[in-house]
Amino acid sequence: MKTRLLASIIAFVIAFGGLNLSVLNAASHGGGGHDHSPLGEEMETISKAFRTLRRQAKDPAKNASSAALAGKMLAASQKSLEFEPAWKEDQPKGEQADFVKGYLKGMEQMVAQLTALEKAFKAGDNAKAEAIIAKLRDAQKKGHKAYKKPDED
Ligand code: HEM
Repeated sequence: MKTRLLASIIAFVIAFGGLNLSVLNAASHGGGGHDHSPLGEEMETISKAFRTLRRQAKDPAKNASSAALAGKMLAASQKSLEFEPAWKEDQPKGEQADFVKGYLKGMEQMVAQLTALEKAFKAGDNAKAEAIIAKLRDAQKKGHKAYKKPDED
């Protein structure tokens, strides 16, 4: 009797533990089945906010919302400074330190541009905001060419 009880408990623990793991797994991947690195997660945040921002950047009535979106992109860019590009691993050992340095420099420039962008919306300077947005698109293109693993697109 005791052994059967023990066996049931063990079976329960295994079943529950397994279930727990699959729930955790689904949660950590957002259920969408698409994996992002921690840097990729920040980039997704930046990308989503940028899409909305670009659509409304000309509209002065939306400047408060646009400033908030720029602020969101800014926070994600600052967070991105804590990570290294996955592509680093594929660079020759002797070039990895410079590779990361270059990436950080690019991200710092993006932080500076987003700080200016948030300020422009707060000041109601939509023409300046549009000019900064054009620079950001350029920074994205250059940053991805240099630091984003080509097959990740
Ligand atoms: C407005 C500007 C930018 C946007 C909208 C943007 C958007 C994105 C998106 C959507 C991804 C794919 C994320 C994923 O699927 O996991 C990505 C990845 C990446 N981006 Fe950006 N990005 C921007 C600027 C930059 C800049 C300036 C740099 C570098 C200085 C950069 C470096 C990277 C890297 C290295 C990855 C690959 C992630 C990894 O290695 O783990 N991005 N970005």
